[in-house]
Amino acid sequence: MAKSRFEYVRAFENEDKLDPRHWIVIALNCLQYKKIFEVHNLLLPNDINLTDVFEASASCVMNDFKEISLCYGYKGQFSFVFQKNTGLYKRRGSKLLTNICSLMSSSFISNWCVHMKSLALEFGPTFEGNIYLFPDDQALRDYLTNCQLQCHHSNLSTTVHAALIKETKISSDEALQILKGTSEGEKNEILFTKCNINYNKEPEVFKKGTVLVRAPCKVDVKAPNGSIVQRTQSKVTKIHTDFVKNSFWSDVFQLNSGTMVNSKYSYLKEMETKTNLLPHCWIIVRIDGKGFHKFSERHNFKKPNDFRSIELMNISAKAVMLTYPDIVLSYGQSDEYSFVINRYSKILERHDYKIMSNIVSIFASTYAYNWSNLFPDESLQVSPAFDGRTVLYPNNSCLRDYLSWRQADCHINNMYNTIFWTLVQKGNCSRQSAEERLRGTFSKDKRSLLLEYNCEYDDEPEILRKGTILYRMQNSTSKDDTLSECINVCHNDIIGEEFWKERPWILGEERGARTVDLDE
Ligand code: GTP
Ligand code: MG
Repeated sequence: MAKSRFEYVRAFENEDKLDPRHWIVIALNCLQYKKIFEVHNLLLPNDINLTDVFEASASCVMNDFKEISLCYGYKGQFSFVFQKNTGLYKRRGSKLLTNICSLMSSSFISNWCVHMKSLALEFGPTFEGNIYLFPDDQALRDYLTNCQLQCHHSNLSTTVHAALIKETKISSDEALQILKGTSEGEKNEILFTKCNINYNKEPEVFKKGTVLVRAPCKVDVKAPNGSIVQRTQSKVTKIHTDFVKNSFWSDVFQLNSGTMVNSKYSYLKEMETKTNLLPHCWIIVRIDGKGFHKFSERHNFKKPNDFRSIELMNISAKAVMLTYPDIVLSYGQSDEYSFVINRYSKILERHDYKIMSNIVSIFASTYAYNWSNLFPDESLQVSPAFDGRTVLYPNNSCLRDYLSWRQADCHINNMYNTIFWTLVQKGNCSRQSAEERLRGTFSKDKRSLLLEYNCEYDDEPEILRKGTILYRMQNSTSKDDTLSECINVCHNDIIGEEFWKERPWILGEERGARTVDLDE
């Protein structure tokens, strides 16, 4: 496929490769765990069906990513452990994180329907993610043991809190007052004496959380010649176990080196990856559908363009923009979207993994949530995932070149696809002969080929030729130059000057170096 002169902006993208010989752990946290209870009137402290939704979603992630060997989770917080030597996506942190995070988010929507029966889901939750890198087996064990300890503390607290309210008929604040500063032993005591509940008898899943492990299993597979052969495949199984005990590490999750029970976990914080994106640079988050070629075939997308899918992508991008007012513009085409974050923004402390995980999560959950509205006759067969990356651009001109690069790409691909499918659908060409006819052709050749079928390329809808631009409007009523929540949709050319001249507020002035906002 032809390349545009804007291609050079690719040089700003970095590889983001995670250190070799380290355990990679992707940690996800559902940001609206409490809100899910409130909005859906679920009973605290735990709802077993909701736990099933989370567990099933984590299982979906493990089934899609065979390189994940273990997952531990409780109350909306899930950690996925990759095989130590995994080479998946060349260990690119952003690609691993965003694929897992978006798949968890979209799976949640499908699994809700399965496990919550007739209770309608009121909103799609967001998962925020980060990556931990552990140099040795001991650190991995310590991390997971610490997570399980957190699960225990959190569950004991919420259990006593909910029980006090229920059994002694006091308010939530009064219960919090009673529990303030109490030790674990005291909480157990209160639970037993005031509420007649023995914590030890509470369900294991809530006390210990959920462990999903991949175990090999033998399955019978039919060979092409009809004979049955045995193959080793892997199966995800659920257990409730103690990470403190040695038995899990020696028997179930067999580590290379021996590990011990440890009591100091504070050092783990150092192993959390954290990159703050350079200040004063434009941040682009570009997301792209995972395996959308196959996804579009499976869901019978119209070729070459399906307006339902474009609309669904645009709805999802709008949801992202509504959550983050610092996104000034987004540009979408095919299965990708680019979000432009104001260069002076302090969004999520400019923490790159936080930013990209939040964005792909909102995008994927909105996509899955709205699927049935756009595709009422196609059930969602697989949960969609999106990979994401952040790219920094130091000035307005390369930011514009970036956007021009994406719009030029849209033009090149759409022109090719339009002619290709015209040849196949109207010209009765096979896919192979259509490909051959188009090989080495220039834009003008493609246009005249199309004319043979009485189609003028420029008559194609703008939304297909130019893609979709969502941009924040300037709030004309506001005196202090703040931008309103109002988002406009258009399909204009953004390569030329006109679009930007007419909307000077989008890119704004480049501030001088002396205006660093020290006193903000
Ligand atoms: P990865 O992104 O590498 O995971 O693979 P991918 O299969 O998603 O390919 P890529 O992102 O390069 O391209 C997107 C693909 O999505 C296109 O090649 C199309 O096959 C498909 N696609 C996107 N939009 C539409 C549409 O409106 N209609 C149809 N039929 N297919 C579409
Ligand atoms: Mg894709």
